[in-house]
Amino acid sequence: MKILETERLILRPFEETDFEAVHSYASVAENIEYMFWGPNNEYQTKEFILQSISQSKEHPCKNYQYASVLKSSKKLIGGCNLSLVGDDEAEIGWIVHKDYWKQGFGTEIGKRIVEFGFSELGLHRIIAHCDTENYGSYRVMERIGMRREGCFIEARPASKFSDKKYGDEYSYAILKDEWEAQQEISYYNSLPVIFDDFVDISNLTDGEIELYCIAKKPALPEKKWVPAYVFEICCNGSHVGELNLRIGYTDGLYYGGQIGYSVDEQHRGHGYAEKACRLLAPVIRAHGMKKVLFTNNITNIDSKRTCEKLGAKLIRIARLPKWHDLYKEGLQFVNVFEWSVDEDDQ
Ligand SMILES: CC(C)(COP(=O)(O)OP(=O)(O)OC[C@H]1O[C@@H](n2cnc3c(N)ncnc32)[C@H](O)[C@@H]1OP(=O)(O)O)[C@@H](O)C(=O)NCCC(=O)NCCS
Repeated sequence: MKILETERLILRPFEETDFEAVHSYASVAENIEYMFWGPNNEYQTKEFILQSISQSKEHPCKNYQYASVLKSSKKLIGGCNLSLVGDDEAEIGWIVHKDYWKQGFGTEIGKRIVEFGFSELGLHRIIAHCDTENYGSYRVMERIGMRREGCFIEARPASKFSDKKYGDEYSYAILKDEWEAQQEISYYNSLPVIFDDFVDISNLTDGEIELYCIAKKPALPEKKWVPAYVFEICCNGSHVGELNLRIGYTDGLYYGGQIGYSVDEQHRGHGYAEKACRLLAPVIRAHGMKKVLFTNNITNIDSKRTCEKLGAKLIRIARLPKWHDLYKEGLQFVNVFEWSVDEDDQ
């Protein structure tokens, strides 16, 4: 079984000498309040360790049971597992000694085990379940990008401290595709952007069309909106369409794009959207940006063609998250195109 590493932890197979450290959380009611098992007696903890060791030696391994060990002190502070369900799906779970709660360890462990499942085991889907009262656990699921898929009523034993017999259960999941999109979002969000103020814009023309800046919209941090320019696209002095340029990178813009365009119906078929985008290159560069994203409805062939003619690269057909405005408007998927402004328009 492969040893995994995070910033502060080593995830390694259990060893028989881990007994004391494991028993120090597995035998404590507060620590196992929402687990199906426990509090363990010594025999049960020893059995768990022996079973984990034997599972870690199986080829192929079906249940990856990891001990979470602090790099700094070599102290074992919890465990986590990834258990295969069928060929390309797995369920994950975690436990952290209560003395180490709320320090980000659960999130750190969860992130690494999901990465292991997708990038090293090639899984398609990863799921996790927890009691609806287990805030720490479902927050870990959300922090690592999992989606709540359902809530099952009285589907599990209630908290060990509850008078009730049954508890309700949340079910979370993440697909490989969603996980990859999240890696891409982190990448774009790390790209440089310069915004001291809106730049002065004049003479944006190629001799055929002209762009006139008709609005400069400041950022709205409470809505996570970045500063944006609005341009009118004109041909021989007549209005033919509109163009928006948003300055910055955010989770929302990965799905919505930095550039949005619309050409009036009667003026379509002349490549105005593509030409207008090319005219924006100096403005994009003035804000220190080298890459911008365009997104379009997967059924919008014309918009897709515009991106292709620009030389933009289709990086993903992305599933929209439920919080995104486009999802709320009824879209489920968008094409995400990346346009490298430096390469194409120096
Ligand atoms: C679930 C668990 C692994 C989280 O570990 P952790 O290292 O504390 O997690 P993080 O520090 O990454 O915190 C994640 C979130 O959970 C919250 N949290 C963690 N433990 C919590 C607790 N006991 N009570 C309330 N909130 C808690 C954190 O404050 C954070 O919330 P935020 O996103 O609002 O800031 C840990 O609470 C645990 O071991 N619980 C017992 C075992 C268990 O229930 N496992 C899951 C079975 S399905």
